[in-house]
Amino acid sequence: MLKLWILTTLLLSSCLSVFIVKAAPLDQHSFANIDAVYTNKLSLDLTVDFDKQQLHGFAEHELTRKDPKVSQLILDSRALVIEKVLQADSKGQWRTAAFALGAVDAIKGQPLTITLSPASSKVRVYYRTTAESSGLQWLNAAQTSEKQQPFLFSQSQAIHARSWIPLQDTPALRVSYQARIRTPTQLLAVMSADNSKNTERDGDYQFVMPQPIPAYLIAIAVGDLHFQPMSAHTGIYAEKTWLAKAAAEFSDTQKMMDVASKLYGEYPWGRYDLLILPASFPFGGMENPRLSFITPTVITGDKSLVSLIAHELAHSWSGNLVTNSNWNDLWLNEGFTNFFENRLMAEVYGPARAAMEYSLSVKDLQRDIAELEPADTALQLQLAGRDPDDAFSQVAYVKGQLLLQLLENKFGREKFDAFISAYFQKFAFQSMDTQTFLQFLQQQLLEKYPGVVSMTEVLQWVFGPGLPAGFPMQHSDAFALVSKQLQAWQQHEITLAALPTITWTVHEWLHFINQLPRDLAPAKLAELDAAFALSQSSNAEIFVAWSRLTIPLNYLPVMPQVKQFLLHVGRTKFVVPLYRLLLENSAQQGFAKEIYQQAKPGYHPLTQAQIDKAFAG
Ligand code: BES
Ligand code: ZN
Repeated sequence: MLKLWILTTLLLSSCLSVFIVKAAPLDQHSFANIDAVYTNKLSLDLTVDFDKQQLHGFAEHELTRKDPKVSQLILDSRALVIEKVLQADSKGQWRTAAFALGAVDAIKGQPLTITLSPASSKVRVYYRTTAESSGLQWLNAAQTSEKQQPFLFSQSQAIHARSWIPLQDTPALRVSYQARIRTPTQLLAVMSADNSKNTERDGDYQFVMPQPIPAYLIAIAVGDLHFQPMSAHTGIYAEKTWLAKAAAEFSDTQKMMDVASKLYGEYPWGRYDLLILPASFPFGGMENPRLSFITPTVITGDKSLVSLIAHELAHSWSGNLVTNSNWNDLWLNEGFTNFFENRLMAEVYGPARAAMEYSLSVKDLQRDIAELEPADTALQLQLAGRDPDDAFSQVAYVKGQLLLQLLENKFGREKFDAFISAYFQKFAFQSMDTQTFLQFLQQQLLEKYPGVVSMTEVLQWVFGPGLPAGFPMQHSDAFALVSKQLQAWQQHEITLAALPTITWTVHEWLHFINQLPRDLAPAKLAELDAAFALSQSSNAEIFVAWSRLTIPLNYLPVMPQVKQFLLHVGRTKFVVPLYRLLLENSAQQGFAKEIYQQAKPGYHPLTQAQIDKAFAG
């Protein structure tokens, strides 16, 4: 119904050339009453207690009232113990404020309602986190790379910031923040903020993030971290094991930054550093501003997976500067970022590599679309009543990217670059929803150059299911050659030894493995493994692609390696499909259970939740 309404509104208004401006849709994943009163500045004062695996201290909110009569401030919270709440009166005197935690909602957590006195402009919430705080992972020393010191990190996107800070947890709102963090003296704390490189390691750290950011970008990590610069504006934070390797792997980061700034406007955040996390980090990367969080599984020694850095860096514009205002509109973050990432890869590593990565992404999207409900394959998601963690797929990423690629192809690079730059500039430090984007697109591109692409076509991409026919492809000569050679092997025209694999990049390997028939005979799998040691690959992408082929075929030699991988790595994108495939193979269900029992304590709460769902069927 709503969709129909939007569609007719857009169609009508595109006919009339007048756009009906509508209030931004509400964020269905937040209790916060930001329309009446909102935080504009947040100050944290937290102690990191590794013995209790707990953060405790206070969050101070500087408030702006939109409704002068507002008498309540509603914050989001999840699994927090609220100890007391104070509010400052007009003279700056702190007094107790009444508060109540509402009923638990399985997805959103609990509203924390604070009674405001008429003049109060600041509120301080004293609290501590609990074992159920889903946005934090506490690792003991044995679970880290160096195995000497414990480690803590946060992952707030999409709605987990509320599990370690009581705040208005919606991307429709931006706050600037500062923090004082106390840790054991031998450890270093870092945040998505100004990380002074010369900070004395004394267990007492101060941070400032002067630019306003959405709550999901507030981030912290504490561990035996060290810093190594890569260039004037980029560097690595990591445990010692990774420091030099990461600096070598990601040495092109400055180049990427320079190219990105030239394309879409000056880098808006000062420094860009990378934090290398333990292998349990649940994502490939997370674009926390000034300090992207990165999985160590992309440190391969050959820069083969650095598109992840291009991706997280691109978020400095698409996502961090212009932010999806609610989680239905995730494609505005991820689709733009995938598009931007591919553009950066083409500029820094050449169009041939970018075309291979593009083609692999399209394959991933097609695989996801085949498995998803059609309703979940529209660009704008319908997440009402659902956990945003459960609905993420390649649709927001790659279908979003393809729509933008289509527009670039049709309007030409020059016009489309200018359009994107204007978009980032006009909406910098603001939140964006699909409706507003479409309006901007209509005015700044479709109507400016009429007859090139119609709004109807765009709406089909945004609200319609599946992948529209005629989606843009990038041709890869390298992949075409691999496909041809693979065919020749299958038709017994050549042997495996005759394949020019010595020159293959990781991408060509991935294409090769993905193209292999899904019903290969055990002897063929063994032949491939004997020739190329695919079961032993130390490249996580190659290993997982090979496992996706071989687990359903119950190819036993891969199983011990699968176990090792699952015990070591916690990146959800890899481990969830592997568990699913093991469970779908009736001969390996017991094996899957046995591995999970052993591996579970090392996984992030988000990863555990996803695997638990796979086990529940
Ligand atoms: N922002 C995302 C990670 C994310 C998305 C976390 C939604 C929680 C909810 C990050 O930028 C990302 O997309 N990471 C990808 C890497 C990428 C190259 C596609 C990942 O982790 O695999
Ligand atoms: Zn992303």
